[in-house]
Amino acid sequence: MKRETVVVLDFGGQYNQLIARRVRECNVYCEIYSYKTDFEKIKALQPKGIIFTGGPNSCYEPGAPTYTKEIFELGVPILGICYGSQLMMHLLGGKVEKAPVREYGKIEVTTDRTSDLFADVSEKTICWMSHNDYISQMAPGFRTIAYTDNCPYAAMENTEKKLYATQFHPEVLHTQEGQKMLSNFVFRVCGCAGDWKMDSFVEQSIRQIREKVGDGKVLCALSGGVDSSVAAVLLSKAVGNQLTCVFVDHGLLRKNEGDEVEAVFGPDGPYDLNFIRVNAQERFYSKLAGVTEPEKKRKIIGEEFIRVFEEEAKKIGAVDFLVQGTIYPDVVESGVGGESTVIKSHHNVGGLPDYVDFKEIIEPLRDLFKDEVRKAGLELGIPDYLVFRQPFPGPGLGIRIIGAITPEKVQMVQDADAIWREEIAAAGWDKKVNQYFAALTNMQSVGVMGDERTYDYAIALRAVTTTDFMTAESAEIPWEIIGKTTSRIVNEVKHINRVLYDCTGKPPATIEFE
Ligand code: XMP
Repeated sequence: MKRETVVVLDFGGQYNQLIARRVRECNVYCEIYSYKTDFEKIKALQPKGIIFTGGPNSCYEPGAPTYTKEIFELGVPILGICYGSQLMMHLLGGKVEKAPVREYGKIEVTTDRTSDLFADVSEKTICWMSHNDYISQMAPGFRTIAYTDNCPYAAMENTEKKLYATQFHPEVLHTQEGQKMLSNFVFRVCGCAGDWKMDSFVEQSIRQIREKVGDGKVLCALSGGVDSSVAAVLLSKAVGNQLTCVFVDHGLLRKNEGDEVEAVFGPDGPYDLNFIRVNAQERFYSKLAGVTEPEKKRKIIGEEFIRVFEEEAKKIGAVDFLVQGTIYPDVVESGVGGESTVIKSHHNVGGLPDYVDFKEIIEPLRDLFKDEVRKAGLELGIPDYLVFRQPFPGPGLGIRIIGAITPEKVQMVQDADAIWREEIAAAGWDKKVNQYFAALTNMQSVGVMGDERTYDYAIALRAVTTTDFMTAESAEIPWEIIGKTTSRIVNEVKHINRVLYDCTGKPPATIEFE
């Protein structure tokens, strides 16, 4: 089945993924391609519409990102955003130059509501601007459909050629009616039907996996995180017990987590699959004994994970397919999709494919953003608590214990963390913060318990709000919750006599302690 697609042509802007997500929120499938992508390839995709993103350059400077003018002759509607709008004007004979007044921030824009782009949008609407250059002269054939005090051409259209351009960013939430504008573009201008729905994605994926796998054997490394859980359930629905999931308990999971994963995916759970739990705690603890350097700990945990998995895979013998929970942002960030080439240094099961004997990789979530993975999970009937799990790093509590790891410390941090999570959830704050946990500082200090002097550890509580985990704010958790958690931790967890709250944002701190 061919799905209708809108293409985002990426000129290096920081909001490129956001544009694609907003389009998908309209139930229209959207993919990001670098501006370096060959025109023939874009044409072959038969897009229903194309969006040019913003970007940091000046389009009139030599060497600035550009695209062949042929794209405007395709007859496919194009929306240029910020740099994209300037480039469109520049290429089609308009004029772009340094703006006399730089516009930055939320700015009131006056729109012409007779334009399809602004149908049902207010005449005066707040939009997000961020530009040093401006369009001083439109290209021939265009008319202006929005302006601000300093920007005569805040938006323009050439309806005959189905070309639209906005100097502001409709994709960011600061543009109050931006979603409406994008929806107008994809439905009114491009004529999309909106066929990108999670129920049909799930159904279609199951069918395709079934066809591809036939009676082959499939292996999946299950961590219990959202991505690998959704991938595993999708596979299980498609091929049942031809799927084997290997779950490695490295002893650095949260309290009771191993049992929780087993309850869902194990033989007593609802899914048809082979579940292998490897209790490798001792192996990891002995490899990690005395190691204090964070990156070394990460490396040991990552490598040992591969060793354990490799051993299990050998027992199973050759398999036909290996499942990976890769999601769309991983694809884009690794430079395959868009223009951004930031590669995250954290990878949960990096390198696994090199060590397992298989013929082909299956990445059923490769096209999905995280929120879509969650929707697919709900569609598949996976319990809410698994679907809405907060992120948990691959090296687990290993990077939440500062300094050397011991089983006793693991237990301390597990118990304190469980109390903190319980109290946050009980107060309804679990929906208000994006990540929260306890970490064991390597600090011991003097305290008094009853009449006794103690010399015990300090635990740090952390809770952050963030949209992308690249930057984060320390959450202003009510004192009541912190107070109650503190007294429970010092009373219930042995060897902790002090509780600290981390007030630092990222930057300058990071979310994790190591
Ligand atoms: P930082 O500590 O870099 O964390 O601010 C940002 C996000 O990434 C997660 N994180 C990791 N995830 N392996 C992972 O799979 C890692 O080594 C790792 N380190 C940090 C962290 O939990 C947060 O969500």
